[in-house]
Amino acid sequence: MYASFKSIGAYVPSKSLTNKDLEKIVDTSDEWIKQRTGIENRYIAASDEFTSDMGYRAAELAIARSGVERDEIDAIICATITPDYFCMPSTACVIADKLGIKNATAFDISAACSGFVYALNIAKAFIESGLKQNILIIGAEKLSAIVDYTDRTTCILFGDGAGAAVIGTTEEKEASVIDIHTSSDGAFQDFLITPGGGVKHPCSQDVIDQHLNYLKMKGNETFKLAVNTLTKDVTRILAKNNLTSEDIDYFIPHQANFRIIDAVGRKLKFSPEKIVLTVAKYGNTSAASIPMAINDWYESGKLKRGDLMLLDTFGGGLTWGSALVCFNQKD
Ligand code: UT7
Repeated sequence: MYASFKSIGAYVPSKSLTNKDLEKIVDTSDEWIKQRTGIENRYIAASDEFTSDMGYRAAELAIARSGVERDEIDAIICATITPDYFCMPSTACVIADKLGIKNATAFDISAACSGFVYALNIAKAFIESGLKQNILIIGAEKLSAIVDYTDRTTCILFGDGAGAAVIGTTEEKEASVIDIHTSSDGAFQDFLITPGGGVKHPCSQDVIDQHLNYLKMKGNETFKLAVNTLTKDVTRILAKNNLTSEDIDYFIPHQANFRIIDAVGRKLKFSPEKIVLTVAKYGNTSAASIPMAINDWYESGKLKRGDLMLLDTFGGGLTWGSALVCFNQKD
């Protein structure tokens, strides 16, 4: 049995935050943001809307499209760096409760923007070892809760949202989650970091006054490393599977910055119509970015059953990874 990407779903909060809105908050401009990032808009969750609420809405849609009954789901993996609770319960358990799913293995993983690809890798391993049959994987983030809206170098980048997929079984290798590669290098741990609020620097007045509970990023250094690492990673997974960029129907990279995607796409010779782009609409939604992009392409009628997707991601940790996946959702 192979792992099969059986369905996709996503949820986008209703409140948008445009570049023009951000011009009123920090010293920036619509023109600078568009030119340097390609971002025009992002969506922000309501104050009483949490990561589990968004993950639940995306999961409901993915389950409905999968043909799998809720009581057949035997594992739930939620990738997030913005869990509802600091330590416990996991967001996956909260989502399981909202879905009415009992007895499934449920846990969160933290791999920042690479979280969805990491979760997909775990699901593939669970299924192909015979341990589980139907796994719900979710990437959900309320990044607006950890973004410092006084820091123009980060607050223009991030948005909220969620995406989910049901991973089941197939006997056909070509219809499966064909290959995944995930990596990390903790030597770059300070490139993307929320320094305060964990056990090293517990929440205190000092942490709050210094804004250490917010996300910090070495943007320029991260940018350069992202382009090189993503290019190498994709080259490797294509070569390992005797494929070229021409064999891929859709290249679906993490949506951090249009310039990163464009540079990687050019180096790898992907024709522009094969490159999935949602960064202008949603900004960077970390673990939710890839499943939200897959869902967009599916709902716009472009992504069809049998299409070969190449997922590619990079994020805090640092972590990165790529995956060759056949989209196997029935119409
Ligand atoms: O998802 C996880 C992975 N994350 C990423 O991959 C993000 C990677 N990094 C990036 O996307 C880009 O580095 C940024 C968009 C964050 C920044 O773009 P950049 O072209 O690397 O700009 P920079 O940091 O080199 O800054 C250039 C200038 C600076 O001014 P000076 O020193 O040249 O006078 C900044 O102060 O732009 C200034 N600047 C801004 N100006 C207007 C920085 N942020 C802003 C802003 N509005 N929001």
